[in-house]
Amino acid sequence: MPAPHPNLLPGGEGTNDRCTNISLFLADEDASAALAQRLAARLKPGMVIYLHGDLGAGKTTLVRGVLNALGYNGRVKSPTYTLVEPYHAAGLDLRHFDLYRLHDEEEWEAAGFRDEFNGHNIFFIEWPEHAQGLIPQADITIDFAILAQGRNVEISGNTPTGRECLKQL
Ligand SMILES: Nc1ncnc2c1ncn2[C@@H]1O[C@H](COP(=O)(O)OP(=O)(O)O)[C@@H](O)[C@H]1O
Ligand SMILES: [Mg+2]
Repeated sequence: MPAPHPNLLPGGEGTNDRCTNISLFLADEDASAALAQRLAARLKPGMVIYLHGDLGAGKTTLVRGVLNALGYNGRVKSPTYTLVEPYHAAGLDLRHFDLYRLHDEEEWEAAGFRDEFNGHNIFFIEWPEHAQGLIPQADITIDFAILAQGRNVEISGNTPTGRECLKQL
C-alpha cells in the first residue's frame, strides 16, 4: 500500500481501516485548494459527497477548487438561491447543491432534483441534512470546522467507493 500523504493523519473511532477517516488541518485557502486537487483526481461517476459545516467554513471553496482542478475556468458561484449549479469538466458531470434554503420535500420534487441522481452525475452537497431521506447516502462526508486560523476537516468514507477514494487521497 502506498504511504499516506504526510498531511493526512489517520483518525476516527471504531474502525481498523486507517484510511476510512482522515483528519486534516487546512492552514489557508491554498491548503484547501491542494486537498481539492487530490480529491478531483479521484472522483468517479456517481459519487456523492456531503459537505458539512457552518456558513463560511469553506464548503463552496472546496467545490470551486475541485472544479478549477478539473480545468473549469468559468465562475463557480454559490448555489444559495438556485439550490443547484451544474458543471461539465474533464468529461465529468458535476452537480453542486446548496440546500440551506430548501424548504420541503414538495420543493425538491417540483424542481425535479430526484432525476439528477442517475448514477452518473457526481454530487457535492452542502447542507445535506436539509434533504434527509431525499438524497442518496454519501460515499464521502467532509466536516469543516472553523479555527482561529485555517480550517480543520474530518473526511470519512462511508461506502466501498468512498473508502477506496480516500485510500488513494
Ligand atoms: N483553509 C482555509 N483557511 C482559511 N480560510 C479559508 C480556508 N478555506 C476557505 N477559506 C475562506 O473561508 C471562506 C469560506 O467561504 P465559503 O467557501 O463560501 O464557505 P461555505 O460554503 O462553507 O459557507 C472564504 O472567505 C474563504 O476564502
Ligand atoms: Mg457554500
